[in-house]
Amino acid sequence: MKKVYIETYGCQMNEYDSELVKSILRSENYEFTHSESEADIIFLNTCAIRENAHSKIYGRLGEIKHLKQKKKKLVVGLLGCMSQNLRGNLDRSENIVDIFAGPDSYKRLPGMIQAVQASGKKEYDFSLSEFEDYSDVYPQRVPGVNAWLAVMRGCDNFCTFCVVPYTRGRERSRTIESVVTETERLAADGFKQVTLLGQNVNSYRSAGADFADLMVAVASVDGIERVRFTSPHPKDFPEKFLHVMAEHPNICNHIHLPLQAGNNRVLDLMARTYTKESFLDLVDNVRTTVPGVALTTDVIVGFPTETDEEFEDTMEVLEQVEFDSAYIFKYSERKNTIAYKKHPDDVTPAKKTERIVRVFALQKQKSLKRNREDIGKRLQVLIEGPSKKNPDEWMGRTDSNKIVVLAKRDFDKGDMVLAEITGATANTLFGHEIEN
Ligand code: 5AD
Ligand code: SF4
Repeated sequence: MKKVYIETYGCQMNEYDSELVKSILRSENYEFTHSESEADIIFLNTCAIRENAHSKIYGRLGEIKHLKQKKKKLVVGLLGCMSQNLRGNLDRSENIVDIFAGPDSYKRLPGMIQAVQASGKKEYDFSLSEFEDYSDVYPQRVPGVNAWLAVMRGCDNFCTFCVVPYTRGRERSRTIESVVTETERLAADGFKQVTLLGQNVNSYRSAGADFADLMVAVASVDGIERVRFTSPHPKDFPEKFLHVMAEHPNICNHIHLPLQAGNNRVLDLMARTYTKESFLDLVDNVRTTVPGVALTTDVIVGFPTETDEEFEDTMEVLEQVEFDSAYIFKYSERKNTIAYKKHPDDVTPAKKTERIVRVFALQKQKSLKRNREDIGKRLQVLIEGPSKKNPDEWMGRTDSNKIVVLAKRDFDKGDMVLAEITGATANTLFGHEIEN
């Protein structure tokens, strides 16, 4: 019996993919361990989105090298986006990686492990598929409250800064039937919440059905108390979908709406297909149709050629929209992307830092303001487990995906608790349970 240790980096899709990998290996009788020193096989499921994602993995490979020196037969595999992106050409070839596999190659892993063990030679598989959706694999999830469920894979948007279309290939969607069947199984397995995943989730299409149809079908499964989705693109929010959100109480009132930049010239260079004005119109429309919806976003500062003045447009949109929270990044040049080929990374690191510091400060103020608006409200909180800071307190989330910390009473993981919100920071709400 061989023991496998898997470490996952990057987005929720990667978390999900690691669960697929576990399921595929388990059906071939592999066992899993939480201790890398006990493992016969170490897999790192990697990310390529920014250079620091690569750097982290190089650092880990340096550490794993020592394990491999002690245990010559240890098999090391690099899975996922960084593997696909570099296609085996690691900068600093630590020469310890035996298996390189991209996101569409996971069914081949058992065969690749056997081949390495038999021959000692390296194995590579970077084939990207237009069809592989793993709908025939039921991921091996850790029992809990939320289950990730990939409904589509790949991305056809080709935003000029982004490596994902190259690492995950073309868009493909699962059938509604396969998603609903899996959701029913999740409900039977005790999951209360399902988060539908896709690199571009709202471009889901299958046999004439769109994302709104899929959400209705999933929200109708008995036992699933909350349905979430991530990550969408602002280009695909038809009225029909917003009405579906408004009408289904178990579809959560939260939309992640990645802005990236607020200036029209920069948005055009990014190939985002919307303008500052059309983005602001969309926000108005979303807020009118789905009252009380929480909005979060992603922002990139220092895209090539972005001037100080153009950056102010991003600040202006953040000031105007008042997102509930935001992920903010410095532009990181990714090889082979359109931006890499056309526009040198010419905004200095100091400028990027100056801009990111300003966005952080503004957004912190806005997140705090938004969170404070919840003080005094009574909100349903789905309990996820003990709070990180204090095991005597519990942590859960509101419908709008805000974290709530509350005193431990007579409730458990997976319970829906009515809580009164009594305090807020920019990141967290505080409250206590009240009788229903
Ligand atoms: N540099 C910086 N941030 C990036 N993102 C994607 N590609 C890059 C890049 N090259 C950010 C975007 C995206 C989020 C997942 O990561 O904001 O929405
Ligand atoms: Fe990283 Fe993007 Fe790949 Fe997710 S899809 S692992 S964020 S590069």
